[in-house]
Amino acid sequence: MNCDIRPESMTRITTVAQAESFITQQVEDIRQQVGAKKVLLALSGGVDSSVVAALLIKAIGKQLVCVHVNHGLMRKGESEQVVEVFGKELDANLIYVDATDRFLNKLSGVSDPETKRKIIGGEFINVFAEEAAKLEDIDFLAQGTIYPDILESKGVKAHHNVGGLPEDLNFKLIEPVRLLYKDEVRVVGEALGLPHGMVYRQPFPGPGLGVRCLGAITRDRLHALREADAILREEFERNGLAETVWQYFIAVPDIKSVGVKDGSRYEGWPAIIRAVNTKDAMTATIEEIPYAILHKIVNRITSEVEGINRVLYDLTPKGPGTIEWE
Ligand code: XMP
Repeated sequence: MNCDIRPESMTRITTVAQAESFITQQVEDIRQQVGAKKVLLALSGGVDSSVVAALLIKAIGKQLVCVHVNHGLMRKGESEQVVEVFGKELDANLIYVDATDRFLNKLSGVSDPETKRKIIGGEFINVFAEEAAKLEDIDFLAQGTIYPDILESKGVKAHHNVGGLPEDLNFKLIEPVRLLYKDEVRVVGEALGLPHGMVYRQPFPGPGLGVRCLGAITRDRLHALREADAILREEFERNGLAETVWQYFIAVPDIKSVGVKDGSRYEGWPAIIRAVNTKDAMTATIEEIPYAILHKIVNRITSEVEGINRVLYDLTPKGPGTIEWE
């Protein structure tokens, strides 16, 4: 179970049949490894942790305890989807922690991006460790480590993702998809019956909307960002862009400009559209969103989102820009 090198003979999982045979093998291995013990998993709702959760639920059912920490920086509807899919449909043993106030209070007044990331990552570990301490008889910790994580020598997802977990919890690790590439994890996820949108969703950074609500986060600007981002996603889905564009989102900077609303002056924030294509996120090009769709997005965001009075389109490739603004 601990071999971290993908054997050359291992065929790439591209079909449902291959995914099913992988699942059968993993279910058997997991049952053998875990026996009657319990397994803990930090379930963010991202592709990797969701697939690992579904695999473990199939193998050991309620012996898996999933903890979903809502840090208040999720996109619109994401935590709700985790509760719906795992808590209700898959009937998982799911602990849902709404830690929004804890995170936002700690982040209050903090404008430096790296400090924000550290606070979010650190607080995530605190909340998760507190939940773990309340549980008894947990021997194993499951993680959604995938093969590129190992290749990039990250091993556990401590570096980039908020899912980096404390080492002193003293659990044995279970990493059932650690030899798979992302596209294989997705095929396995679909074969396990997870919703298509969950399995094929675009990359989302661990610190979430925290690095898109630029500068010091305030609740009203975070709310405006979440609503504007939801409109962008909705319009991309409606217009067939959702699965062709690699990553797309809104960032809202901490500046205001003058606008007019109902005949009077109105100060609001700008919403910045970012929509990029890339293979490996090292460089990225700009998606050329058709003007008609852009106009619709501008119209909807400025009329539906309280606090936003302009919409800008970031045309900067990576480099010189990065994909995220912070
Ligand atoms: P940049 O902004 O460096 O982003 O061009 C490259 C990719 O990495 C994602 N990203 C992050 N992911 N934690 C993450 O888990 C982070 O702190 C973080 N910062 C950037 C970004 O969304 C893009 O896909």
